Amino acid sequence: MDLSPYIQLLRNEDVVVIPTETVYGLAGSIHADRALMKIFEIKQRPLTNPLIVHVTDPADFSVYATAVPDEVYQLAEKFSPGPISFVLPAAASISPLIRGGQTTVALRIPNHPLTLQLIRELGSPLAAPSANRYMGLSATSAAVVELAMPELKGHILDGGRCSAGLESTIIGFEAGQPVLYRMGCITQQQIEKVLGKPVLYVGDTHSDAPKAPGMQQRHYAPRTPMVLTNRLQQTIVDLSTARLGVLSFCQPVEHPAIVAQEVLSTGADLSEAAHRLYDALHRLDLAQADVIIAEWVPNEGLGQAINDKLRRGAESILLS
Ligand code: TXA
Ligand code: MG
Repeated sequence: MDLSPYIQLLRNEDVVVIPTETVYGLAGSIHADRALMKIFEIKQRPLTNPLIVHVTDPADFSVYATAVPDEVYQLAEKFSPGPISFVLPAAASISPLIRGGQTTVALRIPNHPLTLQLIRELGSPLAAPSANRYMGLSATSAAVVELAMPELKGHILDGGRCSAGLESTIIGFEAGQPVLYRMGCITQQQIEKVLGKPVLYVGDTHSDAPKAPGMQQRHYAPRTPMVLTNRLQQTIVDLSTARLGVLSFCQPVEHPAIVAQEVLSTGADLSEAAHRLYDALHRLDLAQADVIIAEWVPNEGLGQAINDKLRRGAESILLS
């Protein structure tokens, strides 16, 4: 594909929306501070929240980071290109805007031929967060990006639907030990298997984390209030004076109050559920329901990452 219009935008220190296997990204050249500023403006994202740098080859890790533990190469050999990001001490060439004021940088090799071609032809890595407004739902198709952020029309490289559909797993190192900052497409168990040791989930370390108890901000959230439940039928009955959108894992449900319904995977397949999650939530968000009722998926493997997104997107969580 001829990528020259997008290369031109990036050379002009402008932004381009890139396809990846996880979600679409809002990208700028790591050497173009003007594009990096524009990313934060368009997303309405705080400058303290760092961006992920997308490279094409494991050999790039030691160019953009000053120390790369062996574990990174072990994991990259198994999972890169793919949905895993590594937080490492940043090289001097990494702009403070990308680092969000930290001394570290997150690096990943996305698994999408067009984006790899774009980075190679540009001759520079691309810094990109997910292509959605701050705290909103991520986008897994070009059409959803354009609907949510119309000002990006003409800047979107359409690479089809994202194959995996959930964000990358983020790994870092604390006191020399690998830790997990974000659950994503690659599960904790898959990582532990490659490394041959347990890896602690320490959660977000950045501005997404609540500043104080009760200040938890919604992330990955539809605009329609969302309730997360482990008793779908009962919650539907309880809330049935409202117009309901329903997100179920594998079984359709019936109730006259339901105005829109999405089943993530009729075959109860967690990969399919991950692939369809954001599209399903976007559709439910457009259905003009008063409330979206979502049910937890089985909390194993990839299900843990799906549940993590649902939990953060929910306004309330009902447990019986
Ligand atoms: O799958 C993905 O990772 C997608 C695609 C576009 O690559 N990107 C993505 O970016 O999800 P974003 O910005 O929505 O999420 C990146 C996360 C943020 O929570 C940020 O705090 C964390 O990565 N992050 C980035 N740099 C970091 C650093 N130096 N230290 C710790 N966390 C970092
Ligand atoms: Mg994001």
